[in-house]
Amino acid sequence: MHKILVTGGLGYIGSHTVVELQQDGFDVVVLDNLNNSKLEVKENIEAITGKPVDVIIADVNDSKALNDLFSSHHFDGVIHFAAHKAVGESVEHPIKYYHNNITGLISLLGVMERHKVSNLIFSSSCTVYGATKDLPVTETTKIQKAESPYGTTKILCEDIITDFAKHKEFKSILLRYFNPVGAHPSAKIGELPLGVPNNLVPYITQTAKGIREQLTIFGSDYNTKDGTCVRDYIHVVDLAKAHVKALEYVNGMKQHVDVFNVGTGNGNTVLEVIDAFEKVNDVKLNYQIGSRRAGDIEQIWADTSKVSKVLNWNAQYTINDMMKHAWAWQKTLK
Ligand code: NAD
Ligand code: WQD
Repeated sequence: MHKILVTGGLGYIGSHTVVELQQDGFDVVVLDNLNNSKLEVKENIEAITGKPVDVIIADVNDSKALNDLFSSHHFDGVIHFAAHKAVGESVEHPIKYYHNNITGLISLLGVMERHKVSNLIFSSSCTVYGATKDLPVTETTKIQKAESPYGTTKILCEDIITDFAKHKEFKSILLRYFNPVGAHPSAKIGELPLGVPNNLVPYITQTAKGIREQLTIFGSDYNTKDGTCVRDYIHVVDLAKAHVKALEYVNGMKQHVDVFNVGTGNGNTVLEVIDAFEKVNDVKLNYQIGSRRAGDIEQIWADTSKVSKVLNWNAQYTINDMMKHAWAWQKTLK
């Protein structure tokens, strides 16, 4: 494993993964259409690693651009991040999501097959487990019908990869991320949400910065220790490192497809996240309790024994680190 293509490599998780790959000695080429990222991210990655990043601005749905790229490089593996990810938007614009997330994957698989590139790491999500009662979730927890078109795209993409890999010399790892948060400790890269954030942590940091007036906690009457929802928040740098471990493992694995939960194994309530943010940063947050958000699940966290045992990966950063780094990153943004 030497040369890796990272689709969506200028995005939030992709950019942190490119840093880890470069720091581990991989030669990285990024393909991104800047749909949800900025070209400056390239320079910021380079400022961290001191190595140039080869960036191709193209759409993963553009088979000709992909073909040209695969003709001019020999890739040992691909990490496929490029996708749309906003759950609410996917309900309003399902075709946009099916097109980008599913057609994009099919386009990529076609070109990988033609150029005999046979290792793929795919960004899946804990959303595939839905509102399960089977906690913590293991990789064998039943997949539920998705609550949103976004969730459906992740389930379908997992199925497409599994079907594709069955009859080919093809190996793929599906990583089911829990809730990625935080930013690089250097504060040079982080999440760049467009418009009003849907996710908790960017909403917290934007409220602390004064961009948003007040955070609303979506419900305090859940059956959890303080009444607010529980999630498994995972530092984006830890998540990025899991991709490096997956790449090191994928080529030699016996089966065609394997799947891993990537979380810390710990659940935190919304109130615990806010408390960690306030304490570690010495900032008072303006928040109120509001009503439940439609579609939210009460609680979910990962059983991480498989990823720990097989990939030898464990999360290192704490919820305090996540809040510290998220705030340091927010303070750098105008
Ligand atoms: P992001 O939007 O920050 O990054 C995605 C990148 O892909 C962006 O740079 C965007 O410009 C690019 N992109 C999108 N469509 C493209 C296309 N057709 N061609 C080329 N580039 C394209 O998102 P992220 O948070 O880094 O998520 C990365 C992946 O992880 C996605 O597949 C997402 O569904 C998945 N995921 C994210 C989360 C999360 O909470 N952030 C959780 C689970 C899974
Ligand atoms: C976390 C908690 C909210 C905002 C989403 C996707 C999932 C995955 C990760 C991609 C919940 C609460 C939030 C706010 C709040 N993405 N909250 N006030 O919903 O767990 O997961 O991102 O695959 O598919 O659904 O993350 O950050 O939106 O919410 O109280 O303003 O924070 O109710 O309990 P979620 P989130």
